[in-house]
Amino acid sequence: MKISVIGCGYVGLVSGFCFADSGHKVTCIDNSDKKIELLKDNKVPIYEPGLKELLLKNLENNNLNFELNINENIRDSEIVLIAVGTPTGENGDADLTFVHQCAREISEFISPNTQIIIKSTVPVGTCDEVEDIIKENCVHSEFSVISNPEFLREGNAINDFVNPDRIVIGTNEQTDKKIMINLYKNIITEDKILFTSRRSSELIKYASNSMLAMRIIFINEIADLCEKIGADVTDIAKGIGLDKRIGPHFLEPGPGFGGSCFPKDARALIESGKKYGAPQTLLESVILGNENRKKNISKKILDKLDKQSENEIGILGITFKAETDDIRESPSLIIIPDLQENGMNISAYDPEGEKEASKILKDVNWKKSAYEAAENVDCLVILTDWEEFKNLDLNKLKNSMKRPLIYDFRNIFDPDMMTELGFEYCSIGRG
Ligand code: UGA
Repeated sequence: MKISVIGCGYVGLVSGFCFADSGHKVTCIDNSDKKIELLKDNKVPIYEPGLKELLLKNLENNNLNFELNINENIRDSEIVLIAVGTPTGENGDADLTFVHQCAREISEFISPNTQIIIKSTVPVGTCDEVEDIIKENCVHSEFSVISNPEFLREGNAINDFVNPDRIVIGTNEQTDKKIMINLYKNIITEDKILFTSRRSSELIKYASNSMLAMRIIFINEIADLCEKIGADVTDIAKGIGLDKRIGPHFLEPGPGFGGSCFPKDARALIESGKKYGAPQTLLESVILGNENRKKNISKKILDKLDKQSENEIGILGITFKAETDDIRESPSLIIIPDLQENGMNISAYDPEGEKEASKILKDVNWKKSAYEAAENVDCLVILTDWEEFKNLDLNKLKNSMKRPLIYDFRNIFDPDMMTELGFEYCSIGRG
């Protein structure tokens, strides 16, 4: 099939490259000339494991090409997939400017019988709006708008795309269903597709992210309680996760959730609840609890230090999680300035995050390795669980630190082992 993918962010690039890899002819379109130039130059504008390899492979197959701006070339596409950003708007709701603009622009060019797929995360009713915009501007009315939210995680995006738990497709039209089955036929078997109405499909995405965010804040608060009462959150997560109704995933405590999705989507769902008179009070607490958590981390660290004589802190991990260069809503963006306000000097290392973080964080002494970030510090703080941090030579690390104090907010090491190695090791929820 011929597909145009509009928007070269995480979702657009991963979907586009994976569809190309499954045999479709894909054109990725973006209005950023910088992005398109990079892509045409065989470079991927984001860090995502495996994406570069997919790019090279599918350029060679002639399954992939790139286009600056929406133009008449999309006439050839049977499918136009919209994957543009839906950032948080002024009131916390989703800002649909890019989606609406995209709908207006494509309506000039789409051929009869084109399927327009909305992959961007959009509030309930957006497919209806897109349909209206296209109807207003298009010379024919033979097109359909289908909701098909994406559930991939940054850092594991390709694997999530090609091995999804489910594909959700919002449409009531039989023809659309057949075309969607065909689109995914080399990726997933039909039994993994859940067909719903467009509105349900749109809401599934928000409900899914919000539910996961809720689990994280729950386990984080349980971790806090564990610290006070001398219990171990790892055992609690295992103990509750063995109940099939709860399940073991997404129960790892941390410094608070970040990224471009959970905070944004939970806020947008709260706003939808207000708009339709169905308050999402649980989610309001989730957002508040998460913000408070990020604000309280610096206090935990400072409490371990002698503020008169100890003010050198090394940070390992700046991105909102491992295996990404994304720093959006990362806990580090709150924690580092808080520590600096309290007179701490910060050295930091992140395998991929420095470029973006250095645009936002000021007066950070950026280092080229974890060992360098640990040199002469009074405390080393782990904020992201990058694989390379788990494999550090811990003796080497300890010998370069002024005080062998590690505050690990991802629980990547075994506390007994760390004590045996001579560290003062603090982690979360392991009272
Ligand atoms: C999330 C969802 O997991 C995807 O299904 C969804 O497609 C995506 O949002 C999206 O809407 O685009 P992502 O934001 O890439 O994916 O990252 P996650 O792996 O879900 O992690 C989100 C945050 O939760 C991170 O800060 C992570 O460190 C934190 N987290 C996650 C925990 O603190 N504990 C956990 O057990 C899991």
